[in-house]
Amino acid sequence: MTVIDTLIRNATLIDGRGTPPFITDVAVVDGRIHAMGHLPDLEARNVIDARGKILSPGFIDVHTHDDLALIKQPAMLPKICQGVTTVIVGNCGISAAGVRLRGDPPDPMNLLGEAADFKYPSFAAYAQAIEAVRPAVNVAALVGHTALRANHMERFDRPATLPECDAMRDDLNAALEQGALGLSTGLAYRNALQAPKAEVDYLAATLHGVGGIYVSHIRSEDDEIIEAIDEAIDIGHDARVPVIISHLKCAGAGNWGRSEAIIGRIENARQQHPVGCDCYPYAASSTTIDPRIVDESFRIQITWSTPHPEMAGKDLKDIASLWGLSHVDAARRLEPGGAIYHEMNEADVSRILAYPHTMIGSDGLPNDPRPHPRLWGTFPRVLGHYSRDQGLFPLEEAVRKMTGLPAERFGLRDRGQLSVGAWADLVLFDADDIRDCATFEQPTLPPLGIEAVWVNGVLSYSQGKSTEARNGQFIRR
Ligand code: ZN
Ligand code: CU
Repeated sequence: MTVIDTLIRNATLIDGRGTPPFITDVAVVDGRIHAMGHLPDLEARNVIDARGKILSPGFIDVHTHDDLALIKQPAMLPKICQGVTTVIVGNCGISAAGVRLRGDPPDPMNLLGEAADFKYPSFAAYAQAIEAVRPAVNVAALVGHTALRANHMERFDRPATLPECDAMRDDLNAALEQGALGLSTGLAYRNALQAPKAEVDYLAATLHGVGGIYVSHIRSEDDEIIEAIDEAIDIGHDARVPVIISHLKCAGAGNWGRSEAIIGRIENARQQHPVGCDCYPYAASSTTIDPRIVDESFRIQITWSTPHPEMAGKDLKDIASLWGLSHVDAARRLEPGGAIYHEMNEADVSRILAYPHTMIGSDGLPNDPRPHPRLWGTFPRVLGHYSRDQGLFPLEEAVRKMTGLPAERFGLRDRGQLSVGAWADLVLFDADDIRDCATFEQPTLPPLGIEAVWVNGVLSYSQGKSTEARNGQFIRR
């Protein structure tokens, strides 16, 4: 007779497909769901009474910069404490897999780590490093366009030449063969901005044959956002691959209220082509310090600065007045560094979150000493604040956006939905208690209401603590 490893009884199950909750037992054997339903006769090594609690698929964080954190802090506490069981790395054009740097990492690759941390010259070497360290969560990876540029270009303020494009494409092809999910770009960043659409087209053309995906931090989230969305969709359409628009937002005060038009644009494009997006549940963004996005009309918090570490945690406005400089000049003096930009409008954030094709992605920055609270709060915030308290969507829809939808979009087989045979990535939470605690003042507070998290059947987080068990897998396309 089969020995049941874990039996979760009387759980209120949310299956990840958007189905309303129902009560069931779930039995886990060898890392996978063995049986579901009313199972009164089964016995198991571990039996959990889940009466009154929600059991759902583990959350998939589709937009992360955990590339190097997975190896340096494999317990992955900021993610596992939120119920995240899978992360997708390599977003925004930057990745650690298959990178051969010749100096310091170019902006914004410096968000991931220092030069010495980039030691995975091939995608396979990175995958092996993940498998050797076995982080607490599963990992799947994109290849970053800016990272490819860094491999083959001495300077980034120009388009790549044809030989450089060929060399980048060879790297991309090798990574795809070794299991990469697809290509990401960060065209808004200064080190990719001069890459014309043709350069990206050339690389993206290689994705179709292997079922890859195109994921883009688009060229502008500000005034030219419509053109930038059109460009991303065109690139995917021309390459005949699905498109994901990263951290969709209306940035900059002059741009508020345009979410309706933007969603209309995406809906329109969806008639011909698969397009989706991800979003984090906050009205502030965070990235490196960039004087081009400094605007005196919204609050900017400095999170780190290499030349002026003493300014971390202060507002740019106060630093500028202390130095007697304009905000832009103060930002220049603080570079390289990181910042939080309070540049969005809540109505746009809510509208984008509620859009049925929006997935949840934290965009958390684990290497930031004073990170944006999205790193520790994103998933409980969507479930607690936006679903339960604001009533923006039902709980099963919130869960679908962080489980079934991303698994389908990124082709993560046997994950994101609860059914017999699927991997037992599970989270047990209290729908009344769940809430994010991380704030802009105290950004690293873990959430409340997550009771237990299993990764490939192994209990990895329980009663507010990591269990020390780490059972994540590297997921190849
Ligand atoms: Zn980005
Ligand atoms: Cu990002």
